[in-house]
Amino acid sequence: MPDLKTTLHVDMLNRYRRRRASLVARVVRAVAKELKGEVYGLAWGDPETVESLRFIRDRYVLPYVKAEHSALEIGPGGGRWTRYLLGFGRLYVVDYYAEVIDELRRNYNKPHMEFIKNNGTDFPAVGDQSIDYLFSFGAFVHLDVPLIEGYLTNMRRVLKPGGNAVIHYSDKTKIMAQLNTSFSENTPETMRSMVSAAGFVILEEDVTSMWHSSVIRFTH
Ligand SMILES: C[S@@+](CC[C@H](N)C(=O)[O-])C[C@H]1O[C@@H](n2cnc3c(N)ncnc32)[C@H](O)[C@@H]1O
Repeated sequence: MPDLKTTLHVDMLNRYRRRRASLVARVVRAVAKELKGEVYGLAWGDPETVESLRFIRDRYVLPYVKAEHSALEIGPGGGRWTRYLLGFGRLYVVDYYAEVIDELRRNYNKPHMEFIKNNGTDFPAVGDQSIDYLFSFGAFVHLDVPLIEGYLTNMRRVLKPGGNAVIHYSDKTKIMAQLNTSFSENTPETMRSMVSAAGFVILEEDVTSMWHSSVIRFTH
């Protein structure tokens, strides 16, 4: 039993005060970040800090960014991945929701970007065989098979021969996708057969980095 000279209780009080001070500092930082304007979507994971996403960025995105090439992103949201595509000479950002396009424009509004509101699976105002690199993350995980098939048919029109398409999709062979009711019924097997049926050649796949989804890269 500690005697009356013990510092135990004052130490405990000081530890509590330090914790409280750091909580106040954390709240102040969070409010400041909010006021500065954080990118919509970072709550799903920041590719700067989440290892699996950093891997996707470093292997499937950054090596393809070239100033002399044109890129197209489907379902950009607030720009969580768009920011890595800004180095392309021309960047089409295509989304079904006008509100989301407005949000993206608030974060990134560059002269070399084209903001396109589509009808769910198409690429209005994008020329035939004009795209070197096509990317989508976090959008196809919610799209049902007929919409994905529609997109693949339209991608065949806009992607240059030899160009690269990288699509992130729902993988219901994984438990975390099975538990997520907003994820569509898709698997690597289904995705492969849709991609091949649309006339593409599969170049690379990642079915292990993410817990609820997979990535496929293909060309024609
Ligand atoms: C979960 S958010 C992901 C946003 C962003 N790519 C990211 O990873 O942070 C889904 C995005 O897909 C868009 N989207 C949903 N259905 C779409 C469709 N049929 N065609 C194009 N975009 C669609 C949404 O508006 C939104 O931008």
